[in-house]
Amino acid sequence: MAVSRYDEPIRPQVHYSPPYGFMNDPNGMVYTNGLYHLFYQWNPKDTVAGVPQWGHATSEDLVHWKNHGVAIASTTEDEGVFSGSAILDVDNTSGFFDGSVKPEDRVVAIFTSNTPEKQTQNLAYSTDGGFNFTRYSGNPVIDVNSTQFRDPKVFFHEDTGKWVMVVAKSFDYEIAFYTSSDLKNWEQVSTFTGGLYGYQYEVPDLVKLPVVGTSEYKWVLFVSINPGMPLGGSGTQYFIGDFDGETFKPDDYVVRMADFGKDWYAAQTWSNTGDDVLGLAWASNWQYTNEVPTKAWRSCMSVARQMALKKNVKYNPGYAGYSLIQEPLINKELRADSCHGNTPLSLKSETGAFEFRINITGKDLGSDNTDPSSVRITISNSTGHRTLLGLRPFDTGAHFFIDRSNQFEHPLFNEKISAYVNPDDNDNPVYDIHGIVDRGIIEIFINNGTIAFTNTVFVADADKLLIEADEKFTVNGEIHSLKGTW
Ligand code: FRU
Repeated sequence: MAVSRYDEPIRPQVHYSPPYGFMNDPNGMVYTNGLYHLFYQWNPKDTVAGVPQWGHATSEDLVHWKNHGVAIASTTEDEGVFSGSAILDVDNTSGFFDGSVKPEDRVVAIFTSNTPEKQTQNLAYSTDGGFNFTRYSGNPVIDVNSTQFRDPKVFFHEDTGKWVMVVAKSFDYEIAFYTSSDLKNWEQVSTFTGGLYGYQYEVPDLVKLPVVGTSEYKWVLFVSINPGMPLGGSGTQYFIGDFDGETFKPDDYVVRMADFGKDWYAAQTWSNTGDDVLGLAWASNWQYTNEVPTKAWRSCMSVARQMALKKNVKYNPGYAGYSLIQEPLINKELRADSCHGNTPLSLKSETGAFEFRINITGKDLGSDNTDPSSVRITISNSTGHRTLLGLRPFDTGAHFFIDRSNQFEHPLFNEKISAYVNPDDNDNPVYDIHGIVDRGIIEIFINNGTIAFTNTVFVADADKLLIEADEKFTVNGEIHSLKGTW
């Protein structure tokens, strides 16, 4: 396949998308030598999912990416190099490295080898900081004789001094926890089951998140399911709890959604970023990803997000609890033109990429559930073809919506989707809406990222963003057009 161009009509300009071919999950995310490595499930031979290999890209700032082609290739025609992770083995616990390899160059990838017979966990190591990989001659490192055992995420657990792997036993609805001292010999120490089941569990991740404004940390377990999300298809749920190096103890079994949109799946976080937990996800849905109207490439990643937990987030006027918060890491230097003030606000962008942030207040917001007043954000092209976003308040909080109708005819492509948000103060509701609009994808973060809402869209040449509000709202904020990063 020919290398395609990043100026195709719907191709995002500030998001990562593969040079050509089909992309799904992010893999092997590790930071070293000043570079964020992003590997990904890639079928370079076609624009539909096939036998995936690990594609590779790197970035210094999480917005400008450089492509490096295939990093871990299949060894036979039917071996899929399925999802997995990567870590920096600074202390050479694996024994793959000698003194000639700088500690920052000692990258080990842990991935699933998928064949028609089974799925096993395997290692590949790099002595040049994550560019070239050699498969371990003793592979597989875990084989439980299953065709449904995949997506290992490995991290170093400081308190026990051991490597921990979370991995999906997909059809058993189990996340299995393994530990190891050398990345080669693994022992299963516990399992976790909970939440929505759907058809199967996939791509787990376990992270230690700071609780903002406190010195507290909590552990968060991400479990993706596909298909079977209430909105349809793929999605990611998370559980909040504690982890002692072997067992994850959830505070409760409440299913919390990591993102309320239709297109945010298989999220993974970077390893070796210190206390900062940074992650992103594949911005698509298995229900329709093989048919979306893009040409030489299919799918992009979401922007990278800094993750944390917030305490005392009001779920309703009587209950407050922890919530995941996500802040999009979009570089201020990308801003081109800007406008700010009260609505109406309107701006054009040469690239079709925008960032906006608005603050919504008003008298009697939500006092009358039959009042159709709303705040509306329209992204349109010169023929009036558009995506409409907005906020509609009720006495129970507000609903943020997207209308992506007339863009992609597919029975499972939900055209109207909404996310519910309860304000922190129900008597004086304030809504903060932060958006990244980038041709084929719109990411919305509400109330400092307590609600994330990610959806793909398919309007060619949409270069105008307009924010307007009905009388009862006071809306002010800013819109920036963004420079492209490709
Ligand atoms: C999730 C997934 C993983 C698997 C990979 C294959 O989207 O199905 O479970 O490793 O994609 O590409």
